[in-house]
Amino acid sequence: MSRSFNFSAIALATAFATATSAHVHAAEFTFDGAKGADTLVIMQEQGKELSAANLTSDTIAHLKRASEAAQFDASQGGTFELLAPVGADYQRIVVVGLGKQDELDAANIAKLGGNIHAQLEAAKVQQVDVAFSGISGQLANAELAAQFAHGVNLRDHSFDIYKKDEAKPELSYHFSVDDSAKTAAAYTALSHIEQGVFLARDLTSEVASEMTPVDFAKAAKELKKYGVKVTILEPKQMKKLGMGALEGVGRGSEHGARLVVAHYEGSDDAPIALVGKGITFDSGGYSIKTGASIARMKSDMAGAAAVLGTVKAMALSKADVNVVAVMGMAANMVSHTAIAPGDVLRTAEGLSVEVVNTDAEGRLVLSDAMWYAREHYKPEIMIDIATLTGSKVGAVGNRYSAIFSEDEQLVTELTAAGKVVNENVWRLPLGYKDMLKSDIADLKNLGSGGPGATTAASFLQHFAGDTRWVHIDIAGNALASSAKGEVNVGGTGYGVRLLSEWILKNK
Ligand code: BES
Ligand code: MN
Ligand code: ZN
Repeated sequence: MSRSFNFSAIALATAFATATSAHVHAAEFTFDGAKGADTLVIMQEQGKELSAANLTSDTIAHLKRASEAAQFDASQGGTFELLAPVGADYQRIVVVGLGKQDELDAANIAKLGGNIHAQLEAAKVQQVDVAFSGISGQLANAELAAQFAHGVNLRDHSFDIYKKDEAKPELSYHFSVDDSAKTAAAYTALSHIEQGVFLARDLTSEVASEMTPVDFAKAAKELKKYGVKVTILEPKQMKKLGMGALEGVGRGSEHGARLVVAHYEGSDDAPIALVGKGITFDSGGYSIKTGASIARMKSDMAGAAAVLGTVKAMALSKADVNVVAVMGMAANMVSHTAIAPGDVLRTAEGLSVEVVNTDAEGRLVLSDAMWYAREHYKPEIMIDIATLTGSKVGAVGNRYSAIFSEDEQLVTELTAAGKVVNENVWRLPLGYKDMLKSDIADLKNLGSGGPGATTAASFLQHFAGDTRWVHIDIAGNALASSAKGEVNVGGTGYGVRLLSEWILKNK
């Protein structure tokens, strides 16, 4: 049985709240047993008897009849509800199917936590006792319960600063678990990752006019209070360093480009460089987007948000890792100062680039950001993450991100990490460098035909040097239009959990 130990996610969330756009919202958790709430959640494994400590035999009998009536088979994610149960004070008992024991892994349980939370919230429940004792699968009881709470809190977070207050009720969850101290510790570790995810989501959800490169730089500076070193380069400094590609894309907006660097140095190892695409709005520039394709382009800085969120997660975790996020920020806009199709930009790498299409701007800002990361940090590994191509969405949709690398080990590690956190990556090929030859410059920014996601990745490959490098295309993953599992509507924070999991497992 559980020992007495209280742990409140609210106190934690408040302590970590930053002055960025959205307020921090959190469910409250305790892991030291039932509190006599209005609702009881019982977990049932498939093929096992329905059981719960502290329930009378009358209640159990009532539950079993209801289970039969609902044709409940305890497959994972299935639920049935019993209102006003006989012999119990609860208003409602929700029985949740767990499926088979080998289905009980981190990804599935976080997803389940998110879905159950949405169901309870819709039912206007306020206090929930969760009977989680005795449940284990691919992970031990403490880890599984913590993942369930993680899923709840991830689903709970929403970006609602533009809505009038609806007095969203705070749910509190009281878990009965096998070991409350272990569970609380496991959840605390996950809560640090959550804070990184929430930062990335809020930055992504915020509207473009309020999230310019300057606003983003300001948000990055907030991480200084966690011991993160933050450096900002302005257009003048970029020009001096020869970063004409990043500076050029920024010219269409009055704010200009920014290079934002956030360095968390928790060890003496050579750093891992995370490079993020930070287009705060992608109009396409003079190769302007039309129709619906322009609508969600405030989210074109989600790669930058993901790497900043990951650095925040590592800093809060006080992980003994050395991680530097390098973010190429610009608004790709139309104006008399913007670059024109056919212009040639000079990258700091020394390669000139013909801008055949101003809408292929992500690779331009990344080229100089990748150069900067290599030049100034000599990283052991460099991973760039970007909402880079519509072609990626056509190839693998939004249930996967696309990963490109010649480094088999990194592909294997990141694929495994993705499975743990429900951020699955699918590998696509490189190998189209030759399709980027230009008549006027060293490279052009658009392939002569060929697969778009891959020609974009092949462009980036020119800027990876000898560094072990991975490119992740998250187009379609950054902004959710419907809630599902642990992901709510809006910015998804996609990549924070993937990168954090990979870093912590492989440091
Ligand atoms: N930001 C877009 C890619 C994108 C598309 C992200 C859909 C999220 C959802 C990128 O800058 C872009 O415009 N790519 C173009 C490239 C083309 C002009 C070569 C594309 O994929 O259509
Ligand atoms: Mn574009
Ligand atoms: Zn873009």
